[in-house]
Amino acid sequence: MPGLLLGDEAPNFEADTTQGRIRFHDFLGDSWGILFSHPRDFTPVCTTELGQAAKLAPEFSKRNVKMIALSIDSVEDHLSWSKDINAYNGDQPEEKLPFPIIADAKRELAVQLGMLDPDELDKDGIPLTARVVFVFGPDKKLKLSILYPATTGRNFDEILRVVDSLQLTAYKKVATPVNWKPGDSVMVIPSLPDDEAKKLFPKGIFTKDLPSGKKYLRYTPQPE
Ligand code: BEZ
Repeated sequence: MPGLLLGDEAPNFEADTTQGRIRFHDFLGDSWGILFSHPRDFTPVCTTELGQAAKLAPEFSKRNVKMIALSIDSVEDHLSWSKDINAYNGDQPEEKLPFPIIADAKRELAVQLGMLDPDELDKDGIPLTARVVFVFGPDKKLKLSILYPATTGRNFDEILRVVDSLQLTAYKKVATPVNWKPGDSVMVIPSLPDDEAKKLFPKGIFTKDLPSGKKYLRYTPQPE
């Protein structure tokens, strides 16, 4: 079945982009990476999403996350559309965006990566791309996958929040609870015994009493 599952290695595809031909693993290097797909160039929701992604590019860069978009049109179309995206942001209508856009005009990558939306068809009845978000770690393995239909735009602030959680939980034995924001307390992961947790989290562990008597809601201040 096409598509990518958590833990799968990113395919090392070659593709034409608005910043030249790339090999995906070389593009990622040792960084984290985010690949986000779009149904089509010159469409309204996509334009707002790419505008927001461009505004947030410095935040992704601060987190060592390389960004790359994908849409099923040509490089030429992508470059022309980029002018609209910059103008939508109130910037000069130039072709340059702070990340490349993959030209997947034959939808080969979209099929390989399981990105098609069967409910949104082009004029020839062929499915458009859905709004996929793939986040890859520095080991090139898939850490997060979100799939939105073409008709629902994503929240890029939420994607940044998720990246913060992925990066924190990749390196510390914690998990982030509902609606967590950077700086909030985090949860000690269930597999970590209490005695080890006490040593690992010197700022303290706060347990909430529950009717079951089980002490599994273990909070600790976000570790550095
Ligand atoms: C859009 O980007 O606006 C869009 C694209 C395909 C289907 C619906 C909306």
